[in-house]
Amino acid sequence: MTPFTLMNSTEEKPELTILHMSDLHFGPPLVLEVAEAALRSAHELKPDAIVVSGDLTQRATRDQFVAAQKFISRFPRVPVMVVPGNHDVPLYRVYQRLTKPHQLYREIIDDELNPTLQLDTAVIVGLDSTAPRSAITNGRIHAWQLNHCSKIFSDVPVDKVKIVVAHHHFAPAPDYLHDRTMPKSKRAIMRFVELDVDLILGGHLHRAYIGNTLDFYPGAHRERGIIIAQSGTTTSRRGRGREQEKNSFNVIKICKKTIQIAHYLYFNASHGFIPNSYHTFRRINQQLEQEKFDQSPGVRDTQ
Ligand SMILES: [Fe+2]
Ligand SMILES: [Fe+2]
Repeated sequence: MTPFTLMNSTEEKPELTILHMSDLHFGPPLVLEVAEAALRSAHELKPDAIVVSGDLTQRATRDQFVAAQKFISRFPRVPVMVVPGNHDVPLYRVYQRLTKPHQLYREIIDDELNPTLQLDTAVIVGLDSTAPRSAITNGRIHAWQLNHCSKIFSDVPVDKVKIVVAHHHFAPAPDYLHDRTMPKSKRAIMRFVELDVDLILGGHLHRAYIGNTLDFYPGAHRERGIIIAQSGTTTSRRGRGREQEKNSFNVIKICKKTIQIAHYLYFNASHGFIPNSYHTFRRINQQLEQEKFDQSPGVRDTQ
């Protein structure tokens, strides 16, 4: 066994556990019994932090934001990161969408649309991927947001995990529903690879996808991709594809050498959410160490 062999997921103790929910869709699509089960899980799983990757509401009304905020206020007392989704800007109230698209979100949920969460073992940067005036459905990440990520991540030591959260997907789901990925998402991925980002969290697709950017875009660093964890809709009846009529969330365990992601599906009122699949990935810090090891004179000379 080389020093870089992937460990069995049971061998490593997590340093940080993140509960990742998405697409709550408070309003008509919300399923109350599922929302209550999600809250039960949020307490039982004892996460160190919670991420909600957008679409808190269905139509961005005051009542829907207030209901979503009430739901979030019932989370366990841990750091929470929320980013807006396309449903959190008014679609039909055009004047409001063009002039003050995030007014209610900022008033009721969070004034900061691109928040940062500094934890002992991770730095999480949230990006507002909504484009209320142009690409309403597909979203957009602007160059200034990538520079913002560079500024925050460039000082982060290699043993900390770097995580980006955005509502819209940077990579397509591996099915045949043909959702368009965010314009210029490859540019963003290239930048994240250069910044040694470990993990991208998102939603919007209403079905889970847990994989790697290399699945669809090799980029300039073919050895190094970024883990992607998309959450399905956690509390609404808007699930799509293999999660049609289903609800899901992800539990992410950050360990010293690996990142372990469990995909949970809602089963029924008495069982609530139960684990459906597990995924273990090597962390970027291990890959960087291996690259250094491979380049060291003793090893290189024997190749
Ligand atoms: Fe959604
Ligand atoms: Fe969405």
